[in-house]
Amino acid sequence: MSHNFAPLKNDTFIKALLRQETEYTPLWLMRQAGRYLPEYRATRKGAGSFMSLAKNPQFATEVTLQPIDRFALDAAILFSDILTVPDAMGLGLYFEEGEGPKFERPLKEEKDVLALKVPEEGSLQYVFDAVTQIRTALDGRVPLIGFSGSPWTLACYMVEGQGSREFHTVKTMLYKRPDLMHHILRVNADAVASYLNAQIDAGAQAVMIFDSWGGALADAAYQEFSLSYMQDIVNKLQKEKDGKRIPAIVFTKGGGLWLEKIAAIGADAVGLDWTVNLGQARARVGDKVALQGNLDPAILFAEPEQIRQQVIQTLDSYGTPAVGHGHVFNLGHGISQFTSPDSVSVLVDTVHEYSRSQRQK
Ligand code: CP3
Repeated sequence: MSHNFAPLKNDTFIKALLRQETEYTPLWLMRQAGRYLPEYRATRKGAGSFMSLAKNPQFATEVTLQPIDRFALDAAILFSDILTVPDAMGLGLYFEEGEGPKFERPLKEEKDVLALKVPEEGSLQYVFDAVTQIRTALDGRVPLIGFSGSPWTLACYMVEGQGSREFHTVKTMLYKRPDLMHHILRVNADAVASYLNAQIDAGAQAVMIFDSWGGALADAAYQEFSLSYMQDIVNKLQKEKDGKRIPAIVFTKGGGLWLEKIAAIGADAVGLDWTVNLGQARARVGDKVALQGNLDPAILFAEPEQIRQQVIQTLDSYGTPAVGHGHVFNLGHGISQFTSPDSVSVLVDTVHEYSRSQRQK
């Protein structure tokens, strides 16, 4: 399918991902559309549940644009969830008030695992429709990021049936029945690769893989059960659409120790959480990939002057931008629902102002 989208007016984010020179450091925030915004809470109330919001392209467009209208962010991210994919595989995603996501039919037995299939084309059409509608509504203001969970992070929810602290069930399967775990990961990787490519076809201008639970794995297990499947997905992604490069970002929370290995899988950028020093990370990856991150979201609970200082410290730790290197400012994980929108304004303005001044030095 071919679309006729407006040309991009602000391509700072794409340029930074491709390690090209920029006038300032671009930024966006993981979970930038969400409950910390009163306008999100109002739309969400009207829609009913989170999933009825996500499954309605009109609502998804509205909430994706809310943070873009309020703050000078340099990218928009599709409003959806990583768990749409296992939902489309038939696991039955639901949310209980005040609790995280759950599955009605988690992968408990061998027969459930062996029956797992890549979802049918049409079952995720609502996501692709949302992508096209959001990209149209953005009218070229900023690029649109598509996303998906990593095969391993999806498997955590699919096997546990919900979020987890210890990952007891999924790790038991990993060590006792690595064959079954690899089967799940194979299906997930195939599903994620087609899902992201369909988002690119629908209008996504960059894509990100969220490996939120990769950091829960042991060193060797991380390579075998998470990183290798992300590498396979990156290999299968379309690198260009309508003559434009589509950069790919991979983010393993807690993956700092494996940075060189993550940087080698062929993605354009690596997301980092706040445990890593950006300058040291930059020295470790050289001009191989751009970096995205990594302010501790809890800093947004401090006073405006303290937020300013911490943002400046983060930009200084990355250092002066240079050709062949790229930095996209972000939080080290999703923004908390208890954040004040005023604190986000301080963050956004400081990143833009201070990073411009860094380039004048
Ligand atoms: O970044 C954005 O603004 C885009 C939207 C987005 C959501 N989820 C919306 C959402 C993205 C990129 C995600 C990714 C996601 N979802 C991840 C990976 C990133 C991460 O945080 O590690 C994971 C692990 C999930 C699974 C998930 N979905 C959880 C654990 C929860 C509950 C968390 C909570 O804050 O309650 C969700 C629900 C969810 N996904 C919400 C939003 C805005 C809150 C739903 C609501 O309105 O009640």
